Amino acid sequence: NFATTQDAPNVASRTPPYTKLLKNLATVRSVLAPTRALTLAEKILYSHLDSPAESLLTNTDNGKSIRGAANLKLKPDRVAMQDASAQMAILQFMSCGLPSTAVPASIHCDHMIVGEKGADVDLPASIAGNKEVFDFLESASRRYGIEFWPPGAGIIHQSVLENYSAPGLMMLGTDSHTPNAGGLGAIAIGVGGADAVDALVDAPWELKAPKILGVELVGELSGWASPKDVILALAGQLTVRGGTGFLIEYFGSGVDTLSCTGMATICNMGAEVGATTSIFPFSSGHIPYLQATHRGSIATKAAELSGMPEKQNLLRPDSGAEYDQVVTIDMSTLEPHINGPFTPDFSTPISRFSEVVKEKEWPETFSSALIGSCTNSSYADMTRAEDLVKQASAAGLKPKADFFITPGSEQIRATLERDSTLSTFESAGGVVLANACGPCIGQWKRTDGVEKGTSNAIFTSYNRNFPARNDGNRETMNFLASPELVTALSYAGSTTFNPLTDSISTPSGESFKFTPPKGQDLPSAGFATGNPDFLPSAPTPTPSVEVKVSPTSDRLALLDPFAPFPESDLSGLKVLYKVKGQCTTDTISAAGPWLKYKGHLPNISENTLIGAVNAATGETNVAYDNDGSSSSIPALAKRWKEAGQDWLVVAEHNYGEGSAREHAALQPRYLGGRVILAKSFARIHETNLKKQGVVPLTFVNEADYDKMLACDDVDTQGLYDTLRNGGKGEVELVVRRDGKEIARVKTKHTLSKDQAGFVLAGSALNVLARKASE
Ligand code: F3S
Repeated sequence: NFATTQDAPNVASRTPPYTKLLKNLATVRSVLAPTRALTLAEKILYSHLDSPAESLLTNTDNGKSIRGAANLKLKPDRVAMQDASAQMAILQFMSCGLPSTAVPASIHCDHMIVGEKGADVDLPASIAGNKEVFDFLESASRRYGIEFWPPGAGIIHQSVLENYSAPGLMMLGTDSHTPNAGGLGAIAIGVGGADAVDALVDAPWELKAPKILGVELVGELSGWASPKDVILALAGQLTVRGGTGFLIEYFGSGVDTLSCTGMATICNMGAEVGATTSIFPFSSGHIPYLQATHRGSIATKAAELSGMPEKQNLLRPDSGAEYDQVVTIDMSTLEPHINGPFTPDFSTPISRFSEVVKEKEWPETFSSALIGSCTNSSYADMTRAEDLVKQASAAGLKPKADFFITPGSEQIRATLERDSTLSTFESAGGVVLANACGPCIGQWKRTDGVEKGTSNAIFTSYNRNFPARNDGNRETMNFLASPELVTALSYAGSTTFNPLTDSISTPSGESFKFTPPKGQDLPSAGFATGNPDFLPSAPTPTPSVEVKVSPTSDRLALLDPFAPFPESDLSGLKVLYKVKGQCTTDTISAAGPWLKYKGHLPNISENTLIGAVNAATGETNVAYDNDGSSSSIPALAKRWKEAGQDWLVVAEHNYGEGSAREHAALQPRYLGGRVILAKSFARIHETNLKKQGVVPLTFVNEADYDKMLACDDVDTQGLYDTLRNGGKGEVELVVRRDGKEIARVKTKHTLSKDQAGFVLAGSALNVLARKASE
C-alpha cells in the first residue's frame, strides 16, 4: 500500500536508451544465438558494446568463448561520482578540454562529512572544513552540466537508486559499492576516475568479460531474516575472493518476494566478495519503487519490455541460460547472520554467535550500534528497526549502547521524520547523523570513551569492516548485521545476546523478549521531498562558469599533461626501490589522512610507496641513493624527479593488488616512474599503470629478480618498437652496475594496441584530449 506519484519532469532523461539497446541486442543475438542462450547480465552488458558485432566476432572465436576472455569495449549510459574520487576524475576530465560530459553524470558529496553529534552540528562544520573542494566540484558541475548533489543531500548509492538506476541501464560509478544499483536491474560497476573519464568523453570503456555466477533464491524471508542476511550468508560461502572475475546474477522463485531496496542491499555487498557487479532481473518489487520515486513511466516501459518474446527480451535471461557456477539460497530457512570482525566473510548465524564470541574471546560487551548507511537505510530497514525500538520503549527500556542512525538520503530522512520514525529513535536516545557516509568511511568522532588501541566491539548495518575503517582504531571489531539485529542488540549492549531467543530484564524487573520486527517496504503517504536546497542542480552546461582551483590550494591542483614517450628506447633509468613481498595499492598510495589530498597530485605523491619493504634491508620506506645516503621513498623519488632522473621499481608477485585506486599509478608516473618490473601484477592496477603511461613488465625468469639491486642502471631494448607496433614485440632490459653490464633481463608484457598508444602519447588522457580537439 503506497502512494503512486506523478513522474518527475526529468524522467525522460533518466530512462535508459531502450530503442538502441534492443537494436544492439538483436545484433548480439545474431552473433551468439546460434551457439547458446544468454544470461540477463550478458544481454545488458553486451547490448552496451560499442559496435557489438565487431567486438564479439573479432574478440572471441566467433562469439563462443566470451566470458573470462574477451576484452569488451563498452559505452555506459551514465556516470556517478562521490566527492572524494570525483576530484581526480574531474581534474582529468578538464584536461580533455570538452565543453560538457558526453553522457549524463552526477556528483554526490557524501564522503567528507563527519558523524559525531548529529546532522545539525556536523554538517555545517564539515562543509566549512571542505569548502574549497565542494566549491570546486559544484562549479565544475555547473560548467560541464553534471547534476550536483550538495553535502547533506545523501549517499551516492541511495541517491542513485532513488533517481537514476533503472532496469537495463549500464552505469559506471567511482565507488566500489556502485553495484547497489543492480537492485533495480542495472549493470553498475565501480571504477577509478580515469575509467569514469572514458565514459565522460565518449571513449569506449574496456572490461574483461566477466564470468557469470548465478545465485538462485528460493523460498521467502520471514521473521528476523532480512535481505542483508542473504548477502551476509553468501559472503560466508564465497569468501572475499570468491566473486573475483564474476558478475553475480540473481534468479529463482524467491526474487519476486524481495523489495527493490532489499535487492539493492544484496547487490551493494556483492563488492565484499570481489564481484565485478551484481544484478537482479526486473521483478514485481521494482514497479512500486519506481512509481513511488516518480518514475512510473520507466516501470511501465520495463514491464512492457520484460513481457516481450524471449528473443527480443532485454530484461530477462533466456531459458536455458547457463551460469559458470551456481549457488542456491533457501530464504525460508535463512537465519540472521553476523559477519566479522575485520573481514566481511567471517559469517556466523545468530544461533551460534554467543558460542563463537566465547570461543574466540571477543569482547562480551559493546558500546556503539550504528544503523543506516548506503547499504541499509531503506524505509523497510528503518521501520523494522523502529518497530523494535517501540517494543523496547513500551517495556521501559533504553539502548545500553550508543545508537546512531544514518539516513541514506534527504528523501528517506524527510519521510522518516514525517512518519515519526526518527522521533521514535531520538526519544530512545538515538542520534540521527547527516545523510552522508560519516562513520562508515572513518569520518567518526567517537565519543563513547573508547581509547585508540583498545580492543572493543561495535555493531553496524554497514558493508565493510576492515581494521580501522570506522574510527581509525585497528582494534575496533566491527560486526556487520541487519539494522534490525543491530538495533535489538543495542538494548542488551552484549555481544552474546540473541534477540530471537533471549530476554532482557526491564527496569520494573520483568522479563522482556522482542517479537520479530515488522515494517513497511514503502511509505503509505509516499516519499517526502525534504529540504529543497538538497535537490541537484539542473544538468545544463554553462561554459561561462569558472571552475574554482586556487593556485595556492593544498587540496586541489590542476593536472599538467604527462610528456609523450621519447622517440627512442628508455636509457639510463635507475632502480628507485626493490620491493620485498606484498605491495598493495595501499602500500603504493596510503589512505587515511592522505585522502584529503586526492585532488592534489603533488601533495598526495608524498605518500608514494611509503608502505613498501626494502628487499635489501627489510626496512619499510627507507630508500638509498647512489652515494649510500638514505631517505624516505617519496623524498628520493622527488629528488630524482628534480634532477631529471627517470626510474623503475622492481617488485614481486601481485603488485598493485587491493583496489582500483588510480593514485597508485598516477603518483609514480608524476614522480618520474617509467617502468614497474614485477613477478606478476594485479590486473586492474596493471591496466591503470598503462593508462597513466607507465610500462608494466614481468620477468620471463623470476630468478632475475634476485640479480637486481636498488640504484642499478637500466636501458630498455625493443620497448619503443613494441609500442610503435601496437604492443607487438619483446622487451629486454640491460642492467648495469657501476658502469658494467651485469645482466640482460628478458621480460613479458600485456600491452594491447590501444594501451601501447597510451604509453606513446604519455597517458590515455593525452589520447582522449587529442581526440577531443580533433
Ligand atoms: Fe559511503 Fe560507506 Fe557506502 S563510505 S558509499 S556509506 S560504503
